[in-house]
Amino acid sequence: MIILAFESSCDETAAAVVFHSSEGFSVKSNIVASQIETHRLYGGVVPEIASRAHTEAISRITYEALEAAGVSLSEVDLIAVTANPGLIGALLVGVNFAKALAAQNKIPLVAVDHIKGHVAAAYLTAPSPKPPFIALALSGGHTAIYRVSDYTEYEIIGTTRDDAIGESFDKIGRLIGIPYPAGRGFDELSREGFIKATGDPTDFYGKYKKSDSYKDRELSLPSPALSDGSLDFSFSGLKTAAINLLHRYEQSGRELDSALFAARYTYEATEAVAKKLSMALDKYPDCDVAVAGGVAANSHLRKRLTEVAEAKGRRIFIPPLVYCGDNAAMIAAEGYYEYIKGNLSDSSLNASALDSIV
Ligand code: KG4
Ligand code: ZN
Repeated sequence: MIILAFESSCDETAAAVVFHSSEGFSVKSNIVASQIETHRLYGGVVPEIASRAHTEAISRITYEALEAAGVSLSEVDLIAVTANPGLIGALLVGVNFAKALAAQNKIPLVAVDHIKGHVAAAYLTAPSPKPPFIALALSGGHTAIYRVSDYTEYEIIGTTRDDAIGESFDKIGRLIGIPYPAGRGFDELSREGFIKATGDPTDFYGKYKKSDSYKDRELSLPSPALSDGSLDFSFSGLKTAAINLLHRYEQSGRELDSALFAARYTYEATEAVAKKLSMALDKYPDCDVAVAGGVAANSHLRKRLTEVAEAKGRRIFIPPLVYCGDNAAMIAAEGYYEYIKGNLSDSSLNASALDSIV
C-alpha cells in the first residue's frame, strides 16, 4: 500500500510517501519545510504567519515528496492528514489540501491525531513496539503517558497539569539566550554543564545523578513529578522556580553559569519523566515502552529512559532523531492503522485544535 501523508499542525509543513507491505513500513520520502527561521524573530510560533507559510509550501512539498519517492498521484492508495490537535488555522491548511486531493483523485482519506502520529514514528523502524505498550508523548504541547491497547486505541494514564516539557525548555532556554526552539541548544548546553560539574566527559549524567557533591545548592530546583502517587507532572512549578532563580542572580549582580543551570534544569525534568516511567512500568507489567515527540530527541532523556526500561527488563523504542520532531512519515504510519480499523474520513472532515485522547 502506498500512503501519502500531510502534517501542518504547528510550524513545519510536511509531506511524506510511505509504503506498507508484509515487511512493515518503508519511508520513500519525508519532506519537512520548516518555518522556524521565520518564527524565531518573534521568539515563538505566530499562528497567522504559520497558516500563511503552510499555504505557500504545501503544494510544492507534495510534489517534491511524490517525485523523491518516484510515485505518481494515481498510484497512491491512501491519503493521511493530521486533523488535531494543533493550531487550528495551521491544521486547516493540511486538512483542506488533503480533502481536495483525495476527492479529486478518488483516494481514500484518513484523519490522524498528531500525538498518535508521534507515537507511530516508532513503527517506521524495526524492531517496533506491539500493543499493548506504554507511550510517553513529550513535545512542545504535550507531556503525557498513555496505555496503547491497540494501534488506534489510547488511554491516558498520566499528564501534565499545566505546561508541557518542550514548552518549558523553550521558555527557560529563551531566558538564558538560546534561540527558539530552545530544546536542542538546551540539550547541548546541559551536556557542557554536566561535564563541567563532574569533570567526566563520558559518564557525566550517571556521576551527576549519583552524588549531590556535583550539584550546586544555589541552583536547586523542584521536581516536576507530582508526588501524589499519580503519573502526573507540573512543569509550571519548575519553570516558575527557574525564573525566580534567574531573577535572584540578576538582582544580586552575580553571574550565572548558564551551563550548570541548564544541566540542573535538564536533570530535574529528566528524572521526573524517568520516575513516572518507572511507576508506569510497575503498574503495567505486560508493557514495553515507546517514547515520542520532539523532546524524545533529548540525548540525556534518551539515555536515562533506556536505563529505566532496561533495569526493569522491558524493551524501549525511541525513534531516530529524524522522526522525533514533526514530520509526515509518522502520520502515514498511524494513518495506515486508522485505515485498517475502517476509520475513513470524507469531505466533511474538519480540523480541531483539541486533543482527541482525554
Ligand atoms: O513534537 P514537536 O516537534 O512539536 C510539537 O508537537 O510540539 O516538539 C517540539 C519541541 C520543542 O519544544 C523543542 O524545543 C523540543 O521539542 N525539542 C527538544 C529537543 N529537540 C527538540 N527538547 C529537548 N531536547 C532536544 N534535543
Ligand atoms: Zn509534534
